[in-house]
Amino acid sequence: MDTEQIRHSLTELGGTFAQELAQAGSRQALEQLRVKYLGRKSPLSVHLKRLGSLPAEERALLGKDLNILKVSFENRLAEAQQRFSERPAQPPVDVTLPGAPPPMGRLHPVTQTMQEIVACFVPMGFEVVEGPELDNEFNNFDALNIPRDHPSRENFDTFFIDPASGGAGAPRPDPKLGRPLLRSHTSPVQIRVMRSRKPPLRILVPGRVYRPDPLDASHSFMFHQVEGLMVDDRANFADLKGVLGLFIERLFGPSTKTRFRPHFFPFTEPSAEVDIACAGCGGRGCTTCGRKGWLEILGCGMVHPNVFKAVGYDPRKVQGFAFGLGVERIAMLKHGIRDIRLFFENDLRFLEQF
Ligand code: DAH
Repeated sequence: MDTEQIRHSLTELGGTFAQELAQAGSRQALEQLRVKYLGRKSPLSVHLKRLGSLPAEERALLGKDLNILKVSFENRLAEAQQRFSERPAQPPVDVTLPGAPPPMGRLHPVTQTMQEIVACFVPMGFEVVEGPELDNEFNNFDALNIPRDHPSRENFDTFFIDPASGGAGAPRPDPKLGRPLLRSHTSPVQIRVMRSRKPPLRILVPGRVYRPDPLDASHSFMFHQVEGLMVDDRANFADLKGVLGLFIERLFGPSTKTRFRPHFFPFTEPSAEVDIACAGCGGRGCTTCGRKGWLEILGCGMVHPNVFKAVGYDPRKVQGFAFGLGVERIAMLKHGIRDIRLFFENDLRFLEQF
């Protein structure tokens, strides 16, 4: 055969290979094709062996063509082989089966808990109000009767905003309002609302707060609170106990035991912390309650006269009470969650349980 004839036979070879490959219906059939078209006795191998006896110029040209064909056979065989290994015989599709349900979203457990808390107070006439997360020293501290030397005003206890780092739109320190900061509690919204409205007031403030705490099982640099405030001319400590008692009954069940424990907050006087009997041990003491039998759930008290003065109310004419609670803490107590970090890791295995 001269090179012209060889070339012609290669074209035919390509054609029959394609036909036979299309008809090959099993791995064995493919293996037979491989032997036939690439094996030692295949026309391709025979031609390749004969290359040596050709003049150099022709050898180069024909060698190239032979190789292209060889590689093409190899690739197409490998492809076909993969089709057999990837697709085991599939059962026929039953088109009458219902489709796979699309994944449904849901509210985050913190949002759910916040909504449950709010729902307990709304029937008692509390109106939901929100305030900005970026606030100032006056609203977060001064107006709440928190003195200049209070430890929570240290740089490592509050995120003060450095105006230099914020560009042109950054908030500036103000002679009256002090330095801008990320609010460390929702209490500054009490100040905002009282400064812009007259009593009677009955407000509930859900929101996000920030403290530069290192993350651990019970601390996070960001968490959520719900604040409450009621002001009129006679709201008293008995009202406070009534409102919070009803709240606890609604959230934790009617037989939940509570206690009011004297405490100190600068913005209320007198102040108290409210505990509920530990559900884990029924008050006997266990690891959940640190062997105390009681779990602290919120802080509260009668609004301090200095707070009323700071917002321009006359403390001789108005009185009222306030309270504040941590939403994650309540959610952890309700669901037996032991690590606050779970709320913020966005692990669906956790979130889908709620
Ligand atoms: N602001 C307090 C805190 O973050 C919680 C608090 C306690 C709010 C007593 C109140 C209150 O309104 O009366 O720890």
